[in-house]
Amino acid sequence: MKKLFAAFVFAALPALAMGASSNYPLDKVNIDLTDKAAMQDGARTFANYCMGCHSAQYQRYERVADDLGIPHEIMLDNLVFNDAKIGDHMKIGMKPDDAKAWFGAAPPDLTLVARVRGNDWLYTYLRTFYADPSRPLGSNNKVFPNVGMPNVLVSLQGNQVIGCKQVQVVTDGKKQFDPLTGAPITHEACDQLTVEPNTGKLSEAEFDEKIKNLVTFLAYSANPVKLKSQRIGTYVLLYLAFFFVFAYLLKREYWKDVH
Ligand code: HEC
Repeated sequence: MKKLFAAFVFAALPALAMGASSNYPLDKVNIDLTDKAAMQDGARTFANYCMGCHSAQYQRYERVADDLGIPHEIMLDNLVFNDAKIGDHMKIGMKPDDAKAWFGAAPPDLTLVARVRGNDWLYTYLRTFYADPSRPLGSNNKVFPNVGMPNVLVSLQGNQVIGCKQVQVVTDGKKQFDPLTGAPITHEACDQLTVEPNTGKLSEAEFDEKIKNLVTFLAYSANPVKLKSQRIGTYVLLYLAFFFVFAYLLKREYWKDVH
């Protein structure tokens, strides 16, 4: 019985380690790890909006600059806000103890977060902060309820609130349309996220794109060799195809006299 209990605890550990979780449906994001422009934009957002609190200390500025095709000068001038040198790890000045006192939880290092949480989780998390006056910092999150992190992207996204809005009726996973007019059939649903018009710098589509780029950068950061391993894989296949021709010619040569 004791063993069974221990087995259960160990099985449940990963779930416990994830901390607060919710059943909020995750939005899918399709990222492209060869899109350097997207990753550059994501790196810029990361440096400007995240590195005040989060480090990416298993990564060096130089590596990021080289992988994403950013010249070192531009990297230092635009993406490094402390006196770090190009070869330094992407650390920050905030002390974990201070952060804990301010936010109730220390902001974790984000180098590997895309591997831990997954791209869809990150994409949804970063777009589902909403105003909640009952929370100490005035905001809450759909994917990570009662999160310690404030809504740092509110100036870009605008003020997102929980409210009622018209949403399309979905039955059996299919969106419903009016058979006569072809117009979507909608109903009023409450407990929906809505952005108050003209409160943010970006439109909804632009904001989604920004977050997609940021997630692309985080996915790259969690696995920087992925780009390289895909390239090497291509070379290996080309080499094999090339080698096959010679192997075949050689085989024909050897067997010529046997037949
Ligand atoms: C003002 C400080 C602050 C800023 C700026 C900030 N965060 Fe956070 N973040 C936090 C804190 C604090 C937590 C821990 C929350 C908790 O555990 O309740 C957190 C948690 C997270 C988590 C969840 C990590 C996990 O797996 O539990 C992610 C992902 C994250 N932040 C991403 C970002 C990104 C991306 C940005 C930039 C757009 C950003 N954060 C900007 C303070 C910040």
